[in-house]
Amino acid sequence: MSEVYENLKIMDEYLLFHYGRKIDILDSKVQWPEVMSQALDFAVRTPGYFSKNIMARGLDLGCAVGRSSFEMSRTCEEVIGLDFSHQFIAAANRLKNEGKMDYTRLDEGVITTSLTAELPQGIDSSRVEFIQGDAMQLPDHLGRFDRVHAANLLCRLTDPVLLLNRFSELLEKNGELVLATPCTWLEDFTPRGNWPKTDTLGWLKDNLLENFELRSECDEPFLIRETARKFQWTRSMVTVWKKR
Ligand SMILES: C[S@@+](CC[C@H](N)C(=O)[O-])C[C@H]1O[C@@H](n2cnc3c(N)ncnc32)[C@H](O)[C@@H]1O
Repeated sequence: MSEVYENLKIMDEYLLFHYGRKIDILDSKVQWPEVMSQALDFAVRTPGYFSKNIMARGLDLGCAVGRSSFEMSRTCEEVIGLDFSHQFIAAANRLKNEGKMDYTRLDEGVITTSLTAELPQGIDSSRVEFIQGDAMQLPDHLGRFDRVHAANLLCRLTDPVLLLNRFSELLEKNGELVLATPCTWLEDFTPRGNWPKTDTLGWLKDNLLENFELRSECDEPFLIRETARKFQWTRSMVTVWKKR
């Protein structure tokens, strides 16, 4: 279902999701439930689960339009952001090279607002490289990483175990792995036979504990605005792992 992430509507939604300010997402004239504000900036919060040490190499799988990759570059000297969507990678590269990108927010029906996504303050974009690719068939020449981040990717893959099996060789000893998943298993993306046979946390443990220690597990909400009145509010399960 790779085409799902290859249309202008979803790119506009993701540029707003990753780079939109609170006033761009939540109309300031409306009294929104507090949980909606708490769900903003997801792409900044999940890289926040890495330690604060400066590391050499980071990998952001399923990076979409790149916000988490830029955030990882604050504490990684080199970050690779990889996504299957050509248009997402083109947008991420535009932000890297030009520092900004115009996009359109859908408000309702024919009513739209023009906005500009901007590279966040304090980012050295020369540290970040974006590449189009398949997280289930990563090229060998990528090498090893001190940090790997994959947010809301696993349940969008046709065969997520292929990626789980790669993490051990992708990470250096003591390397940090941050996984976020809303556990929204859908046959549109993953054949039922490749869904976890147990709950998703149990499935992650079954596949990772041999080579990784589970350091923490918690929930992080996220909010994707579709129109001025329609939002997706979702709880993602965040697990933090350390390579043995
Ligand atoms: C639900 S979005 C999450 C994006 C981003 N990590 C975030 O949290 O906002 C899933 C992303 O995974 C990408 N994706 C889907 N299948 C992929 C694959 N096989 N390899 C790499 N990226 C993939 C999609 O293009 C999309 O950007």
